Amino acid sequence: MPVTASPAEEIDVLRRQDPEIADVLLGEARRQADGLQLIAAENFTSPAVLAALGSPLANKYAEGYPGNRYHGGCEYADAAERIAVQRATALFGAEHANVQAHSGSSAVLAAYAALLKPGDTVLAMGLGHGGHLTHGSPANFSGRWFDFVPYGVDAETGLVDYEQVAALARHHRPKAIVCGSISYPRHLDHAVFREIADEVGAYLISDAAHPIGLVAGGAAPNPVPYADVVCATTHKVLRGPRGGMILCGEELADRIDRAVFPFTQGGAQMHTIAAKAVAFGEASTPAFSAYAHQVVTHARVLASALEAEGFAVTTGGTDTHLISADPAPLGVDGRTARARLAAAGIVLDTCALPYGDGRGIRLGTAAVTTQGMGVPEMARIAALFGLALRDDGARAARVRAEVRELTGGFPPYGH
Ligand SMILES: Cc1ncc(COP(=O)(O)O)c(C=O)c1O
Repeated sequence: MPVTASPAEEIDVLRRQDPEIADVLLGEARRQADGLQLIAAENFTSPAVLAALGSPLANKYAEGYPGNRYHGGCEYADAAERIAVQRATALFGAEHANVQAHSGSSAVLAAYAALLKPGDTVLAMGLGHGGHLTHGSPANFSGRWFDFVPYGVDAETGLVDYEQVAALARHHRPKAIVCGSISYPRHLDHAVFREIADEVGAYLISDAAHPIGLVAGGAAPNPVPYADVVCATTHKVLRGPRGGMILCGEELADRIDRAVFPFTQGGAQMHTIAAKAVAFGEASTPAFSAYAHQVVTHARVLASALEAEGFAVTTGGTDTHLISADPAPLGVDGRTARARLAAAGIVLDTCALPYGDGRGIRLGTAAVTTQGMGVPEMARIAALFGLALRDDGARAARVRAEVRELTGGFPPYGH
């Protein structure tokens, strides 16, 4: 059996050997094409990224770093990683990049491991206000091993309360301050965070998992000049493979690398690193910059159309790919909204709302923009939200058919 084949041949090879799993993969491909993929953390990678992921580099063990591996036969693994690192540093203007982190959470774990000791105090956005699990959840290593102090957003504006951040920093003298969120739709003011961190002698860790793709395309401010360490994912707006990345200055490079391997990880996933290199290459093109700006335009249009449908959009809009909103004015909470929208083929998440008991919805425009949808489709999507949520079930089939008709015009991987 050949080890390299075209994607069509590969699925045939899989089907002949394992029809059960082939059906699962085909079903997932259909699901992705057939519905509206509005999960803010997802995107459609390019066929080139998928090709790297499905390549024989998946077979290679390569513990260590280029030129200094535990395993033999690493010449091509080294080449892939060197290219990925060189492209990442150029793309984000960073002195150093570690591209081995398996995920966004692994990147944050390594940043903490490099800079902190168990029991240290860390200031981060509270989970109810948009912080990630790695920002102090008691269910996560972060909440178990460090003493997290949460900051939040203003009750009126929904914007980060920088005065509160400064006051908490002065009071608690944290070893690190984390800026970053899973649902905050506005740009963060990295200069203000830097100033506060400097005043209290704290490290500044930017968890840019969400906006890093916008940063690559010049559509969001770059945290690299301000933060000691920037943690990121490569699979959101950035449109690469599922994975993590860490950016920092030369002075922390060694500590960060050692915190990834050997402290928190073993062998790097070389096929994923090659796929990250492909994605960084794509993200450095003018076409990607245009894409990143379109993603933001689409999110703004969709946010205001959702507001016109009756949703209470947090912060009154967005600067990014991300929208979070309270559907309560339409008579449903976030969980009911997610279920009704899912029945219509519209896929998104619920999220915490900083004030009040209910949950909201969280969505993003990265995937639909990759598919080629534009401003008119954003208005249509908002109208479909209204139809699906004002419906007690009677119109569900009609809304589902309309979603199919819409997505049918924008197949993510061509016809
Ligand atoms: C702010 C933030 N940090 C960390 C992560 C974790 O990334 P992963 O799911 O790859 O571990 C996410 C994921 O959405 C995130 O939004």
